[in-house]
Amino acid sequence: MKLEEAKKDYYRRLAREEGYNSRAAYKLLETAKRYRLIKPGYKVLDLGCAPGGWVQVASEAVGENGLVVGVDLASMRLGLMPNVKLVQGDINDPQVIEKVRAIFNPPKDFPFDVLLSDLSPRISGVWELDHFKQVELTFRSLALGDELLRVGGSAMLKVFDGERFTELRREAGKRFQTVTIVKPKASRSESSEIYLVCLTKKP
Ligand SMILES: C[S@@+](CC[C@H](N)C(=O)[O-])C[C@H]1O[C@@H](n2cnc3c(N)ncnc32)[C@H](O)[C@@H]1O
Repeated sequence: MKLEEAKKDYYRRLAREEGYNSRAAYKLLETAKRYRLIKPGYKVLDLGCAPGGWVQVASEAVGENGLVVGVDLASMRLGLMPNVKLVQGDINDPQVIEKVRAIFNPPKDFPFDVLLSDLSPRISGVWELDHFKQVELTFRSLALGDELLRVGGSAMLKVFDGERFTELRREAGKRFQTVTIVKPKASRSESSEIYLVCLTKKP
């Protein structure tokens, strides 16, 4: 078995043993710990959250006084997690974003401390197309951060590396004090996915 296959299997098995819905959970666990992204009591928005590994990690990290709101096109099954709310739908649909806002009663401006985006389009196999679509989704996440993330808040955003990466990174840099490129161990090295860790949203 190739090293990369073994690594994929390792994280998949670990996720099963530790009760996480996806091996993606380990990408967030490693990165959140390294950058102290998620603190108890925080409110976290997780875009493209299914099947729910990141939601589980974030839910544990924010604890009973925090909140995790997950949005995905797909429906998901999660055990009872009182600090998690799920919204099913397209992040490009304004009505879906209204549902996210309506979770806060009374409605709050910029309610989230952390924005997570692990969005991925349905992979066509045509690299340029997949890259373009994925980066579009991540641009949308950045725009939602403008509306929903508090000043001083942070983000972790998946990007398929490629032609539009520099443009995306530049846009992130306009919004956050530091932007760092991260490749977590659980992310396959042959995969073009990388993450931007964006700390301290500017006013
Ligand atoms: C790699 S998965 C996320 C894995 C997740 N972070 C976890 O830990 O289990 C990417 C997700 O993005 C979702 N997605 C893609 N386009 C979307 C859109 N326009 N609106 C909402 N979700 C979308 C997909 O349905 C898919 O579930």
